[in-house]
Amino acid sequence: MARNKPLVPISRNYLLTTVQEAKQVARSWLKEFGLDHVIKFGLPEIDDRYHFWRVPLLKEDGKTKLGELVIDAYTTEVLPDKSTRPEILEARLLKKDAEGADPKRRSRRDYPISPLRNTVAFGDCVDVIDDMPAGSVDLVFTSPPYFNARPEYSEYEQYEQYLFEMRQMIKRCHRVLNEGRFFVMNTSPVLLRRASRSESSRRLAVPFDLHRIFVEEGFDFIDDIIWMKPEGAGWATGRGRRFAADRNPLQYKAVPVTEYVLVYRKKSDLLIDWFIRNHPDPSVVESSRIGDDYERTNVWRIQPATNSQHPAAFPMELAEKVVSYYSFRNDVVMDPMAGSGTVGAAASRLGRRFVLIDSNPAYLKIIRESVVGWLGRAAEGVLYINCDPKSLPLGLFDCTESDNGEKE
Ligand SMILES: C[S@@+](CC[C@H](N)C(=O)[O-])C[C@H]1O[C@@H](n2cnc3c(N)ncnc32)[C@H](O)[C@@H]1O
Repeated sequence: MARNKPLVPISRNYLLTTVQEAKQVARSWLKEFGLDHVIKFGLPEIDDRYHFWRVPLLKEDGKTKLGELVIDAYTTEVLPDKSTRPEILEARLLKKDAEGADPKRRSRRDYPISPLRNTVAFGDCVDVIDDMPAGSVDLVFTSPPYFNARPEYSEYEQYEQYLFEMRQMIKRCHRVLNEGRFFVMNTSPVLLRRASRSESSRRLAVPFDLHRIFVEEGFDFIDDIIWMKPEGAGWATGRGRRFAADRNPLQYKAVPVTEYVLVYRKKSDLLIDWFIRNHPDPSVVESSRIGDDYERTNVWRIQPATNSQHPAAFPMELAEKVVSYYSFRNDVVMDPMAGSGTVGAAASRLGRRFVLIDSNPAYLKIIRESVVGWLGRAAEGVLYINCDPKSLPLGLFDCTESDNGEKE
């Protein structure tokens, strides 16, 4: 509305030109913290010395001032260090001191810094994690076995047993993961091939069953990212061939070229913002910032890994994205089912610490042999659990877990 459009924004070429737009930006920012329904706005004003919009934040009575939001008029960005912090707003709404006894208002002193050093452990992750201190991990990223996609693999007798074991792993990870931090899991439906031509094949919706377990074990669902592979990637499964030949309705089967990267957060009252504002070393937060070339949507197009040493290794690109988007430098990143250790390689490259666990000695050997390449001299400081780094059993290259039956 022209009535609300001051002249300064036009003459200065601001992106944010009207009172309504300033309120809209303020509303979206408050929404991120769940405060949009409980805070009203006073009249936004331009501070043309600094090229800011200042939006007064009021209680619902429309009179009591709670704080102020400062928005860059050129970019429309809210400037957090110039605005009233969301936790102060909450405290004022609740008439409490922001640094008071409210458990959400923890001080800088309580910021959890893990004492763990780079660790490689052999064994069932459930047992290994049981010996770890609570709250000693800042990010979990893993890809569990894809159940028994092929008849020759008999690691799990029943799908229910598989789900039970995944639940034990998720439960243990919950204990050692810091409150409010992320558990990211790469998984996908599994194709169970038919036993004979007279039977149908079956697809198990593994990610959906795991989702329920995550929620029941105390995680909030955050994102379903689709890892999309090139189109040819799914053709070898045989899915879709019959339809391609006959084109009859009902025969249609989509050729799978995607996997899920499911993102969960350990339940917490702490806002994400708390971890950024209260980090004891702001220079670490600054150096962990992500560059412009980041994934803007939940579809990530990434080539599958071609790792001759592990049948289901993560692509390094996938591991690097997850580690850099969901942890700070120097954080501890754990992969409880680490396989060839791609997560450890990504963590090392990105200045994070790692905890890698696998129950297959052949994979442990691969990790051990890679560690020097990742860390150089610092490899001497790696803690090995349940395995002597110099004499790990060689074993046969035994891929006891299957891929999801849908890979080339
Ligand atoms: C899909 S693979 C992970 C591959 C890995 N992301 C990589 O980049 O190489 C799953 C791994 O889980 C391991 N595994 C299965 N059950 C386990 C358990 N109970 N504890 C620890 N590791 C386990 C298997 O040995 C296998 O290496």
